[in-house]
Amino acid sequence: MRKTLLLSSCGLAALLLSTAAQAETGVALTGKVTSTQEPTMEGVLVSAKRDGSTVTTTVVTNAQGVYSFPAEKLAPGHYTLAIRAAGYKLDGPKAVDVASGSTATAYLTLAKTNALANQLTNGEWLNSLPGDDRLKAALTNCVGCHTIQRIVQSTHDDAEFMQVFARMGTYSPGSTPTHPQPLLPGGNNSDRSPMPKPIQEKMAAYLASVNLSNAESVEFPLKPFPRLTGRSTRVVITEYDLPRKDAQPHDVVMDKDGTVWYKVTDHEIPTLRPEEPKGSLALEFDPKGNLWLAGMYQAGIYKIDTKTKQIIAYPYPKEWLNATTQSSMLSAQHNDVDGKIWTNNQDTHLVYRFDTVSGTYEDLGQAVDKNGTHINGYGMPTDAQNNAYQLNFGGASIGRIDAKTKEVTIWKTPLPFSRPRRGRVDENGILWFAEYGANGIGRFDPKTNEIKEWQLPTPWDEPYDVVKAKDGEVWTGSMLTDRVARLDPKTDAITEYQLPRSTNIRRVFVDDRGAKPVL
Ligand code: HEC
Repeated sequence: MRKTLLLSSCGLAALLLSTAAQAETGVALTGKVTSTQEPTMEGVLVSAKRDGSTVTTTVVTNAQGVYSFPAEKLAPGHYTLAIRAAGYKLDGPKAVDVASGSTATAYLTLAKTNALANQLTNGEWLNSLPGDDRLKAALTNCVGCHTIQRIVQSTHDDAEFMQVFARMGTYSPGSTPTHPQPLLPGGNNSDRSPMPKPIQEKMAAYLASVNLSNAESVEFPLKPFPRLTGRSTRVVITEYDLPRKDAQPHDVVMDKDGTVWYKVTDHEIPTLRPEEPKGSLALEFDPKGNLWLAGMYQAGIYKIDTKTKQIIAYPYPKEWLNATTQSSMLSAQHNDVDGKIWTNNQDTHLVYRFDTVSGTYEDLGQAVDKNGTHINGYGMPTDAQNNAYQLNFGGASIGRIDAKTKEVTIWKTPLPFSRPRRGRVDENGILWFAEYGANGIGRFDPKTNEIKEWQLPTPWDEPYDVVKAKDGEVWTGSMLTDRVARLDPKTDAITEYQLPRSTNIRRVFVDDRGAKPVL
């Protein structure tokens, strides 16, 4: 049996992950991975890229320290090899020739690296940093635009960190250090510091005590997570380089023919507000197979006809706009029910609906239940009646807005500060969602109103999204650890897979076209 998982990552490539119980064909390339410290190394990722190719294939060493690439995955040619194993570098050999019809071998020797700090994931930095996990958790707000290494290896003192927190609040969420996009002043949220005000001083003092600002800084050992073993090693990962080097796809979706769509800005998206930050967030199909895109600070949504590639912009009404109006989410999946697409203004926490028949927007205001409790959705997945769930990234609850009555109902998650982020409703009406704060996967059954939660084995995984496959297994990806996890809700077993490169996984998608669900 084989499964493939499509990930959208804010890293450098789109990525497919397939797991196989055993190799189905011959072996193109095999070998053992060893080092002086560990004669048998399980869980080392070995990547191969053919000269001139844009595709990288990765497999993982088993309990005997042996890796093998299935023949169907490597065409004959000259391959460059790379490894991932925290604490190690590849000493040799670094390239190999693969010929057709025979098995090539490459015995790989690893040596200890002096550059462990450059290998750590954000999750491993948080794992290594001393101090209170609750304080450290606020640093998970800092990983949307760059790594934690950038913060820990800075030389700022307390006072400078206060300035840094303020400066970070002036960038739009689509920013990176190589491509900063300042927010326009004068909006409701022109200052959106990622460090909550009440803990800024405490955090500034803490960061100045652990960074490189003075000789008295706290010294702490770097603690990479142990390599994954057993079932986690039975996987083949395929990465596809994107044509544009600095493309950082946020939402990547697969249509029913298996074509992958990402960051549609690579098709010319009409600019609605030239002075505002560019970039988009939610990208969703409607039942007819058209794509819909939320335009963030461009303040509107777009329809992309996937056949003609024609793109139509639907700007928000002028009187709704201010400098930081932000269209982050939309849900078009069930728009055949009532012709409506849910969307929002994340700036003011307003819920909007777009009527695809009349081409007009409706402002439903903030989502408030009958007790007066407000819920602000980050993700807003819809069910088969086109009711919209609200995943409360700022807290520990989920809500649902009834499409007909507009009534709002809110349920608390059992785990505290779980920070539900994005998710999906499955064919049985069950809502699956990622708990960024509780490091877990949530399941909500609207028949019983029960929420069940599973926490991931690797600390600081902080998953972003969840998707269920036809076979009932549920997949998620980490924003901080370059790991993908798979949950079998029947047995509660969770298997994790390490990815070959530094990434920052956002959406996860299933390719369910085969007789057996293919992730
Ligand atoms: C919305 C995007 C964004 C977020 C979120 C963000 N940063 Fe940044 N950060 C940037 C950009 C862009 C740069 C490069 C430009 C600059 O230095 O101002 C940067 C650079 C930095 C630097 C290196 C430059 C320097 O002044 O030393 C540090 C340190 C830093 N950020 C700290 C943080 C901390 C701490 C957080 C979380 C509280 C955070 N960042 C969250 C966008 C962001």
